[in-house]
Amino acid sequence: MKRRLKLHAACALALLALTLPSAFAQGQKTHGLTPQERRGRAIYLRGEGTPGRELKALVGEVDVPASTMTCAGCHGARGEGKTEGGVTAGNLTWANLVKPYGHTHPTGRRHGPFDEAAFFRAVSEGVDPSKNDMLAAMPRYQMSAEDAADLVAYLKRIEDDHDPGLSDASVRVGTLLPTAGPLAAAGAAMRDVLAAYLNELNAAGGVFGRKVELQSASDAADARRLAEAGEVFAFVGGLSAGADAEVAALARELEVPFVGPATLLPQPGRYVFYLMPGPAEQARALFNFQAQRQPQSHLKVAVIYEESEFPAAAAAAAAEQCEKSGRGTLLKFSYARGKFDPAALVRGAKGADAVLFFGADGEEKTFIEEADAAGWHPDVLLLGALTGRELVSSVPAGFREKVFLTFPTVPTDLTEGGEAELRALSAKYKFGLRHTAAQLSALAAAKTLAEGLRRGGRDVSRERLVTALEGLYDYETGLTPRLTFGPNRRVGAAGAYVVRIDPERQEFVPASGWVKAY
Ligand code: HEC
Repeated sequence: MKRRLKLHAACALALLALTLPSAFAQGQKTHGLTPQERRGRAIYLRGEGTPGRELKALVGEVDVPASTMTCAGCHGARGEGKTEGGVTAGNLTWANLVKPYGHTHPTGRRHGPFDEAAFFRAVSEGVDPSKNDMLAAMPRYQMSAEDAADLVAYLKRIEDDHDPGLSDASVRVGTLLPTAGPLAAAGAAMRDVLAAYLNELNAAGGVFGRKVELQSASDAADARRLAEAGEVFAFVGGLSAGADAEVAALARELEVPFVGPATLLPQPGRYVFYLMPGPAEQARALFNFQAQRQPQSHLKVAVIYEESEFPAAAAAAAAEQCEKSGRGTLLKFSYARGKFDPAALVRGAKGADAVLFFGADGEEKTFIEEADAAGWHPDVLLLGALTGRELVSSVPAGFREKVFLTFPTVPTDLTEGGEAELRALSAKYKFGLRHTAAQLSALAAAKTLAEGLRRGGRDVSRERLVTALEGLYDYETGLTPRLTFGPNRRVGAAGAYVVRIDPERQEFVPASGWVKAY
């Protein structure tokens, strides 16, 4: 019984989150670095030129994207300089480059001080201020004068560009948990878990001797204040539902990582790592599921959706997946909110073998009844988060074995170990097990953060944390499906389980194991 309850808790949370308006206040846009310094930082750390100006590095005769040859990789994240394999890539802090007496290098090469023009020549032509050739180990970059100026601006600041919230003794992390409104109770339940987990982690020595300290923000504006004030290194868990765009903007502008915010609508971006799939991943999984069901045929699929954010994201992803698979044709039918016309949609889509239906408020039920009346019985594929519970008891006989739903997680994702961990925390820290889906998501996020910090190493930085998380492959939280991230992948559990409605037993029964989105 307990296990069944949890699945429904997941749906309840999902539905609750959907109803929350996207009305979080926008904070002020500031940062310790000027926009120019930040552009320089993006070049230095990541080899990213201004969008539209691709940066290339010449290594010998071969040119490669600068993103694979970052300055930081050879000269150190703080420009401190490094010696590797007997070759020294020197200290690049501006104060060092402009020393009046210049440099004498380990190779015996000597030159006078750099200025901006000499710096540009060094980076683009490989010559030092005295016009001597530098070692071939230093790549040549095809960069514009503006890029070089941005870099110089950053190198003037690089020494004091420390990631905030991080010291030898502690790493401060924030979490975004609403304290008012419909999600407040789930928020409080999540906070209990996060605080307890981090307490345990700290009692066992923290991560590389650093205690992980938690600060709460009640909404996106509050989270922005924390980040702008340099109070936090990263964010963990929490509920970004309804504030996803604000959270994504904040993460991008301030380059602050978010690990595992719970939401229904993941947003693209480098710094936000979602654990659970959104509509796009689930819709792709639905398409892939149908492709497995009809392995031999040319698929004729219709996608019917309401023209609002969540269903539209699902429909777009399904169309892309169909295109990518080359397995069939997909026709799109959409309607404005409140303008649902089941008869017209049935007339339009009739003939398809499968219908991906992304509507709202029980519209899927009406659609199925309308199709039934018209004697048309395609497979109907739905997103669990958009599907009313009534459907389970009202599927017409002609649709037996033909109505499928996605779930981002199923009870068996919770392993015995994972369940024991949550229960032990609840017993020791005396908090109730409630809003189970929310609490599981918080615990999974905290574990993922801890794993990222461990893999990021003693010298962890925000960049290193991001890289470490990108390296997680089939990571088992014991609480969720396995998580895999990558350089272009920010949803850990990218896929879905597909269940079928069993009208006799009025239940969901598994129709597949985990179906991957990609
Ligand atoms: C693959 C490793 C590597 C990368 C990547 C790299 N460098 Fe270098 N860099 C070196 C080495 C090695 C030297 C020393 C060359 C020598 O001694 O002749 C050097 C020297 C320099 C110097 C001269 C320093 C001095 O003290 O005279 C500057 C300036 C410089 N690099 C800037 C950059 C910038 C800016 C980037 C990124 C856009 C970058 N480097 C990327 C390896 C690298």
